[in-house]
Amino acid sequence: MKKYLVIGNPINHSLSPLIHNYWLKKYNIAESFYDKKKIEEKDLENMVLQMRDNRISGINVTVPFKKSIIPYLDELDLRAEKTESVNTLVKADNKIVGYNTDEPGFELTVQNFFLENDSQYKNVFILGAGGVTNSIICALKKFKTKITLSNRTIKKAHALNKLHPEIKTIDWGKRPSTFDIIINTTSIGLKSNERIDLDFGDCEGDKKKIFYDLIYNPKETNFLKEARTRGNHVINGQKMFLNQAMFAFKLWTNIKPEIDKEIIELLDK
Ligand code: ATR
Repeated sequence: MKKYLVIGNPINHSLSPLIHNYWLKKYNIAESFYDKKKIEEKDLENMVLQMRDNRISGINVTVPFKKSIIPYLDELDLRAEKTESVNTLVKADNKIVGYNTDEPGFELTVQNFFLENDSQYKNVFILGAGGVTNSIICALKKFKTKITLSNRTIKKAHALNKLHPEIKTIDWGKRPSTFDIIINTTSIGLKSNERIDLDFGDCEGDKKKIFYDLIYNPKETNFLKEARTRGNHVINGQKMFLNQAMFAFKLWTNIKPEIDKEIIELLDK
């Protein structure tokens, strides 16, 4: 039996098993199962060891271990190295290699907006400076966007600013006077009573303005609900989530799985 795993803490909310088990079955990858496991920091080394011993065939790493897993790995792919963030472990030539599929997963979801000729999407406002934010910034830099970043703990925004001197940072609670796309990378909105306390009254009826929330569960955070009510273009984290899973599945099986209607229905249930 081949075993795949997503590790994190908390992990209960993870929908990765749902998607990967659907694909394992769809592509007839026999005797394989994808499970989730809540772990502590001290368990990281043992998890990697289980991959070395072939007891686990592949691991997805999620919050809060995407960085702390790195010392236990033999190699990193370029994106993982650049973002200092690993979400997929693959065994190749007896080495455990850490990949970052969040960055290409996000890139694939937004490229349409930026690659249009004469794209109107130039100014990006990012909320948050947590584990995934550097992947988002690295993806956006490919599109020559101007990035403004705001985080409650300003030190973390400044740390990202050091890695990317071209971005601007502003204090938490403030916003740039104008932006074309705003991306919430914070965890605000995971709970239904949480909202982001910024005034977007001037965006009323602006269908072009994109409000993007990386959260996919719940499907509509207050941030997106308010944007939809104003008539803005809203995107939740589902596509990025599916895309990063697609890239991970491809790394493990060499099959690029289709994101079909059934899988979206499964997630929407
Ligand atoms: P980590 O920082 O461990 O990677 P994360 O869940 O990836 O954790 O990131 C959480 C993000 O949501 C951070 O940007 C965090 O802000 P701080 O750096 O100030 O902690 C942000 N966040 C979470 N709850 C928040 C709240 N109530 N108000 C403002 N920002 C919040």
